[in-house]
Amino acid sequence: MRPLIAAIDLSAIRHNYAVAKRCAPGREAFAVVKANAYGHGVREVVSVLHGEADGFAVACLEEAAEVRALDDQTRILLLEGCFEAVEYQLAAQLGLDVVVQGSEQAAALLAAPLSRPLNVWLKLDSGMHRLGFGEDELRHCHARLKGAPQVAELNLISHFACADLRGHELNERQLESFLGLLELDFDRRSLANSAAILTMPAAHMDWVRPGIMLYGASPFADISAHELGLKPAMSLSAKLIAVREVAMGESVGYGATWEAARPSRIGTVSCGYADGYPRHAPSGTPVIVNGQRVPLAGRVSMDMLAVDLTDLPSAVVGDPVELWGAQLPVDELAAACGTIGYELLTKVTARVPRRYLA
Ligand SMILES: Cc1ncc(COP(=O)(O)O)c(C=O)c1O
Repeated sequence: MRPLIAAIDLSAIRHNYAVAKRCAPGREAFAVVKANAYGHGVREVVSVLHGEADGFAVACLEEAAEVRALDDQTRILLLEGCFEAVEYQLAAQLGLDVVVQGSEQAAALLAAPLSRPLNVWLKLDSGMHRLGFGEDELRHCHARLKGAPQVAELNLISHFACADLRGHELNERQLESFLGLLELDFDRRSLANSAAILTMPAAHMDWVRPGIMLYGASPFADISAHELGLKPAMSLSAKLIAVREVAMGESVGYGATWEAARPSRIGTVSCGYADGYPRHAPSGTPVIVNGQRVPLAGRVSMDMLAVDLTDLPSAVVGDPVELWGAQLPVDELAAACGTIGYELLTKVTARVPRRYLA
């Protein structure tokens, strides 16, 4: 068997959910499990949070149906709403909460013959300019939807563009825009993602929406997950499958981009970009071999990558390698590669077996 697994510590996810709830006392939380629970496996994550999470949030009806099959009671929020008119009927059958983010969605909802009314979350474009109604449009839509037979609860939702940048002036403007609409009669309100849960109590409202923090990664570039009291859920682990001596001046890997500046020992690791390790990781990116940091050497291949073991002479074939996890935070690898932990976690590919620790 190929020595590469993503080990997922489900108790860490429970712990991190509890951290989110402690940060926002008395509020309810939609655990965000879109994109296969940020790569961790939606079935296992929903199961471990069953009875604990107040609800779950997903990106589309297909993801919602998967969650509903695991939990027939919980609230499930469709964050982008329905993409086609027929989906409102399916959403009603599944008992979903739906975002309505534009006039086309509002019209389709009002035209839909539903088996039961839906909890609707009107989305305010408070400044991100991706989805949602402007303030005036939202007032208008509120008037149209309030009391409509398709609508059970009528709720307000918005999303921060810069909550990960503490003190960014847009945060304050978005919060003010949201607060300015609370004079309307809404049943529930939701604004905070992980970053706002952790640092903006004024944005907690009724329901918070923790995503990345559940998986033990930090939304902030300058505060580590450890400092936030979060536990990493995923460790991507491989092995050394070959070790060789390389003479000074010889190169390693495709494109011969890494050249030995001294007689070197090179280890080959059973993980590559087809597993989700970023191909653009530069030489020097840290990799953990036998608990020690060693630098990546040369380009990442599809199924393998190389590390410079010259300063770790004890390393031999079969030794354990961690690409990220408890010993190397995914956020640190992401920073070295010019990306974010979210991208690395969600891009672990289907061929990497997930192994779950309870
Ligand atoms: C609307 C919405 N709410 C909440 C979240 C969760 O965000 P985070 O993972 O930063 O906590 C997301 C994720 O992208 C989102 O799109």
